[in-house]
Amino acid sequence: MLQPYRVALLPGDGVGLEVIAEAVKVLEALGEVGGPTFRFQTGLIGGAAIDATAEPLPAESIAICNNSQAILLGAVGGPQWDTKRPESRPEQGLLQLRQRLGLFVNLRPVRVLDSMLPFSALKPDRVRGTNLMIVRELSGGIYFGNPRGIFAKNGERMGVNTEVYREHEIERVAHRAFQLARDRRKKVTSVDKANVLESSRLWREVVERVARAYPEVELGHQYVDSCAMALIDRPASFDVILTTNMFGDILSDECAALPGSIGFLPSASMGEQQYVYEPIHGSAPDIAGRGRANPIAAILSAALMLRYSFRLETEAQAIETAIEKVLKRGVRTAEIPGKQRPVGTSKMGDVIAAETQKVLKSARVRSR
Ligand code: IPM
Ligand code: MG
Repeated sequence: MLQPYRVALLPGDGVGLEVIAEAVKVLEALGEVGGPTFRFQTGLIGGAAIDATAEPLPAESIAICNNSQAILLGAVGGPQWDTKRPESRPEQGLLQLRQRLGLFVNLRPVRVLDSMLPFSALKPDRVRGTNLMIVRELSGGIYFGNPRGIFAKNGERMGVNTEVYREHEIERVAHRAFQLARDRRKKVTSVDKANVLESSRLWREVVERVARAYPEVELGHQYVDSCAMALIDRPASFDVILTTNMFGDILSDECAALPGSIGFLPSASMGEQQYVYEPIHGSAPDIAGRGRANPIAAILSAALMLRYSFRLETEAQAIETAIEKVLKRGVRTAEIPGKQRPVGTSKMGDVIAAETQKVLKSARVRSR
């Protein structure tokens, strides 16, 4: 791939703007020490886009995405847009982007580094060694199924949403999960509610079928309620968790309690071509604009972009190692408990950028 790499930035709303600025800082720091270089183009999404254009995902933003090799997204939403008609809420920008780009798989890695153990909501012995990957189906299920709406019937209104999964939708996301597991600890836990839902029964059947192509990977099934408990009870026992759009949304937020802050968790959304990288935390309107947000999830999302879109494994690992070192030194943002005075968003970005450069330089010295 020719450099500079072309990256679309969709910072969105709230803390999205602040954390994306830090991810960009770290990416640019790579180029300063002879690493890869990037060209950024910024577009609007979410509430910011509604304010400027009346649409949550304007055509210009789609054009910017189509003109890029990867997309880095911040967050969407905020209370000032909550009263808007449902079809023009900020979240629609994100949902439309997923649909337009055909992003059917969402990877949410959850790693609890030893340096994060003190922050975890769980006892260190429970959570130590946790390194799991949620593979969430992203373009189907109850998020998009029809019929949907609020209808009047017999003088009463009813709200309707429908969980729909077609075989090919289950198949393609399942393949991704097994392919990932092959390069990891070779274990897939497929999560459903097959004791109640027909869509889950089909899900299970298709996952079993796909599994036959991956004999080296062990497949287990678990109901979502039981999985929710096991994630707290023995999180380190999971490798790859394969699940639906809705269950994946819920379980991935639950997993944020494992490393102790949702500000640590990145994600990658993939389709056939374009990939979108974003922190899983939202726009956090309560702390937005105050320089308090943790940029680590956004910076880790940038690392995933280097890994999956640009095959820059050394640089991706350099960022991950740098973050581990910085946390070990006790550097923290305000939501992480600790003895040292918390640093602001921008300072955290500075420290990680500098450490990444150091890690990269010493990796080069070693490989000489
Ligand atoms: C997420 C978010 C989104 C989702 C919202 C903002 C639409 O919660 O990415 O997990 O539900 O998918
Ligand atoms: Mg969510």
